[in-house]
Amino acid sequence: MNRLRLGVNIDHVATVRNARGTAYPDPVRAAQLAEEAGADGITAHLREDRRHISDTDIERLAATLRVPLNFEMAATVEMQAIALRHRPHAVCIVPEKREERTTEGGLEVARQENALAHFIAPLREAGCRVSIFIAADRAQVEAAHRIGAQVVELHTGGYCDHHHEGDLAARDGELVRLTEMAALAHDLGLEVHAGHGLTYETVGPIAALPQVMELNIGHFLVGEAIFRGLPGAMAEMRRLMDEARA
Ligand code: PXP
Repeated sequence: MNRLRLGVNIDHVATVRNARGTAYPDPVRAAQLAEEAGADGITAHLREDRRHISDTDIERLAATLRVPLNFEMAATVEMQAIALRHRPHAVCIVPEKREERTTEGGLEVARQENALAHFIAPLREAGCRVSIFIAADRAQVEAAHRIGAQVVELHTGGYCDHHHEGDLAARDGELVRLTEMAALAHDLGLEVHAGHGLTYETVGPIAALPQVMELNIGHFLVGEAIFRGLPGAMAEMRRLMDEARA
């Protein structure tokens, strides 16, 4: 089976920085540390309200990273212009609501196919790999395929929430949907990624899905870095991913 890539999301280093309005902790320094510790990519979400990552962070990441930058963004004209300016390796289109604490659901692709197809075309032409963040739902997978996305990232947030809330029946139901939709997406020729809410406890069954090529993990790793340091937090995640994959 192919080696599963680990993309490290450094947004919440910026959350801590912004809580005080200081210049530290620097998310770009965290990205460089993650890179040295074996991250296969760095993920950063420039939210419309700039609550964590800033425009300058994106500029500095684009200028300094040696591993691929995965730029998460809402489907807005402003974000499209920023992506076209920096031409990151990948863009991941996510839904965004200002009032939400984090990206709550997947993108509703099926109901805005035309608009999204037009939105992603210039990004593809600029050489960015376009990923669409979706729930594990057949209509969304098929729509992502039709609009010309190269990648789908399956939203694992519900699966993780159910696990940590102890609702194991709901967790297992979501895992069945993730398993089926990873297979469908792969059969359609899409590259399959997964992410959101993953922890040491929840990563195994997702890492074991043979079609999944990349996991994007942030909040848990940044939190765990308080106790183990970022390289230590990543090393344990890597170990669990490899163990599940073997
Ligand atoms: N993938 C996507 C598309 C996301 O929006 C996020 C959160 O920004 C993540 C992965 C990482 O989620 P978490 O920080 O919960 O690990």
